[in-house]
Amino acid sequence: MCGIVGYIGTRDAGPILMDCLKRLEYRGYDSAGVGVIQEDRLELRRSAGKIAELERVLGQRPVRGRAGIAHTRWATHGRPSAANAHPHSDCASSVAVVHNGIIENHRPLRRALESQGHRFGSQTDTEVIPHLIESRQGEIETATQEAVRELEGDYALGIISRRDPGKLVAVRSGGPPLIVGFAPDGLFLTSDASAILPYTREVLSLEEGEMAVLSGEGVRLATFDGRTVDRSPTRVPWDAETAQKGGFPHFMLKEIWEQPRAIRDTCGGRADLEAGEVRLADLGLEAGALARVRRIVLVACGTSWHASLVGKHVLESLCRVPVEVDVASEYRYRPPIVDPETLTVAISQSGETADTLGAVRESRSRGSKVVAVCNVVGSSLARESDGVLYTHAGPEIGVASTKAFTSQLAALDLLAIHLGRARGTLSPDSARALLRELADIPRLAGDLLGRADALLEIGSTLRTSASVLYLGRGIQYPLALEGALKLKEISYIHAEGYPAGEMKHGPIALIDRTVPVVAIAPQGRLYEKTLSNVEEVKARDGRVIAIASEDDREIAGKADHVFRLPRTSELLLPILTALPLQLLAYHAAVLRGCDVDQPRNLAKSVTVE
Ligand code: F6R
Repeated sequence: MCGIVGYIGTRDAGPILMDCLKRLEYRGYDSAGVGVIQEDRLELRRSAGKIAELERVLGQRPVRGRAGIAHTRWATHGRPSAANAHPHSDCASSVAVVHNGIIENHRPLRRALESQGHRFGSQTDTEVIPHLIESRQGEIETATQEAVRELEGDYALGIISRRDPGKLVAVRSGGPPLIVGFAPDGLFLTSDASAILPYTREVLSLEEGEMAVLSGEGVRLATFDGRTVDRSPTRVPWDAETAQKGGFPHFMLKEIWEQPRAIRDTCGGRADLEAGEVRLADLGLEAGALARVRRIVLVACGTSWHASLVGKHVLESLCRVPVEVDVASEYRYRPPIVDPETLTVAISQSGETADTLGAVRESRSRGSKVVAVCNVVGSSLARESDGVLYTHAGPEIGVASTKAFTSQLAALDLLAIHLGRARGTLSPDSARALLRELADIPRLAGDLLGRADALLEIGSTLRTSASVLYLGRGIQYPLALEGALKLKEISYIHAEGYPAGEMKHGPIALIDRTVPVVAIAPQGRLYEKTLSNVEEVKARDGRVIAIASEDDREIAGKADHVFRLPRTSELLLPILTALPLQLLAYHAAVLRGCDVDQPRNLAKSVTVE
């Protein structure tokens, strides 16, 4: 999704902005641009396609200046092109604006501005903003303040102007995040802290309805109606090194291999094995309040939604409380049945997903307490929730979520054990036994990854398939959905996840030797039933890739390929099942020559509806 960077200080802004912009490439984009105040002129350079193309343009027509803004755009209004790329400017080329989000009322605004004689050069919703500012008098912050009063929608803006060449103005309203960074030789603006980490880790997030003026005098923070805000910067816990590839060919592969560490860090310091308790310092809910919860609603999108579906099984098993799972974009418009006795748990890697934030606001407006399971400290979701359970996966750069997913599963296991203890549905002994098994998962995940070479060969058998079916039952059904999502998003092979028992109700019609079936069939309560489903596939000449238990002797005779999982509790096993599914998708995609870290049409953080 779109990315913003800005710089004002004592150094040449151009190279700094380009360096920061490259660190936003992982988010997915289709055009890019940069704008700099050069002497008394505003210089804009924009191009469609990758940042390398923008660099080529800058090579031919360089820019120099001490204040600038830059942007990676993911097309919403108007196709990807140089004209639609940000920054956008006004008729007199005096103001430049970069924008994340959507201006809902851009059409009437544009019509009104055009009738006043303003000329537009793009199809974007953004371009109304510089024209609105142009039509206001006074200092840039006053003109901006007046202009944004006209806007409806969610937006984060970075603005520079010839009127006030020593200022960079930042505005946030609604979803998209915006962060100010404090470095010794200048001030930064960004929508994603990882873009500016080589320069500073001291950051300040703008809240909704706030505006910041960055200048040689420092940062002036105020609300839209002019009230001064006094807030101290915080320190980002990641460094720039942590956000790089570390010798792996792709971020996705690095992140798959980081999972033992990510799960260990997520559980670390929280599980009290002696007491059979879980300590969740920031949950924001006392044991008494947890005991009174009569219903839980889990809301999330995409891979985080799959984590929620696994979470439902674990929470219902350990806490004996009804759990409902909803896709956030559906939940927020239903209207949902939620009350103060319902606990809402919102799950999001980024903490900036617009639909998940919308669902949280919906729940809170109906009196429900909200706990966020989130990977980004200080994200909008963390700030808007009553409590937070951070996953400590570290920055996830690959667009396809991997280590954030398994860390979410571990966090939900912790939450369920904590809740089960608070509600008296889980004994200290059972909690202790589960926590011991959870503490051993990183070791088992490391061993499994050590045997992962076999998945290259199995993944290569998927490479030429037009369609792949993933089957699972019970707590493994969400893993079938997740395996299918991973494959389709990075390899562009059509894939579907199904509860294995549903096969005979329709999808079995698809089975022939050209449609591989990935059967998640670990031993456990539903093993025999899943095995029958595998036999149904074989009886129709289907090719089966089985993800099975290490000591399962039967499966080898029924499947074409078998990848084996170590033994652990059935409730915790999905964490391990995820790994071979991620690697199957990764290898198939790499062998097809796909850009696994930045799949087409996808964005890392979906901050618009
Ligand atoms: C898939 C993927 C997406 C995200 C979804 C929610 O690999 O990454 O489906 O899971 O966009 O994002 P978060 O978790 O940041 O709310």
